[in-house]
Amino acid sequence: MNGKIAIVTGAAQGIGAAVALALGRRGVRVAALDIQADALAQLAGQQPDGIHPYPVDLRASQAVNAVVEKIEAELGPVDMLVNVAGILRMGSICDMSDDDWDATFAVNLHGVFYLSRAVARRMLPRRQGAIVTVGSNAAAVPRLQMAAYAASKAAAGHFTKCLGLELAGHGIRCNVVSPGSTDTAMQRAFCPSPEDVQKVLDGSLPGYRTGIPLGRIASAQDIAAAVVFLLGDEARHITMHDLRVDGGATLGV
Ligand SMILES: NC(=O)c1ccc[n+]([C@@H]2O[C@H](COP(=O)([O-])OP(=O)(O)OC[C@H]3O[C@@H](n4cnc5c(N)ncnc54)[C@H](O)[C@@H]3O)[C@@H](O)[C@H]2O)c1
Repeated sequence: MNGKIAIVTGAAQGIGAAVALALGRRGVRVAALDIQADALAQLAGQQPDGIHPYPVDLRASQAVNAVVEKIEAELGPVDMLVNVAGILRMGSICDMSDDDWDATFAVNLHGVFYLSRAVARRMLPRRQGAIVTVGSNAAAVPRLQMAAYAASKAAAGHFTKCLGLELAGHGIRCNVVSPGSTDTAMQRAFCPSPEDVQKVLDGSLPGYRTGIPLGRIASAQDIAAAVVFLLGDEARHITMHDLRVDGGATLGV
């Protein structure tokens, strides 16, 4: 991977930051994208030669096109894209506002489409590249209070597989990594107390959750390791795959 160029979204914190740092350690020049400019600058400070901050709102199609053009002009041709940015708005369907629904799809699906399209257009004539979208295990198993999120992640995952089919003949691979509960700000908002975390580990019959058979919450690095594998040459024969990284929480369905 040394010397390659990657775009990583959601890079200001959590899983995106772990992916950016993991790639940077392998000699990749990382364009780190996020809406949080200050946090991006702090991340870049940890690896000034490897990580380059590009603040952008992924909900804006024109801004996304412009940032990809800027990245290619400043860093060079993009070899890898990792779609990590996402938001979680909890709530039952009957009480959900239009704004919660629209905001969820704007980031988790439309942003993935805008950026993947902009990057794929450039990868296509070069006939090389790898794209990974970070989905969620909630895309495979219905979850209470998570309808918009789960539906947006199912759509983003399936979009990524269709992209993989369109690009396979051009030497470009597209895969999905679907995390379960992972120790980040998103997870801590959902489970603020140690008792909440224990409930996730144990499972809950009223919540229709089976718990986590491996008995731990993932670290962001656990998810980054799967992403790095799918981006690399060791995965050269893998495309349109969905790699579940959830400690068995969805029983592999
Ligand atoms: N943490 C978990 O338990 C978990 C489980 C399954 C899936 N995931 C998925 O993994 C991904 C990363 O999650 P995380 O836990 O690191 O979340 P996080 O909330 O810590 O980080 C998400 C990042 O996305 C950025 N972002 C949000 N909206 C944006 C926008 N419009 N434009 C640009 N950037 C934007 C945020 O600023 C933030 O830095 C998400 O897609 C999430 O759905 C997380």
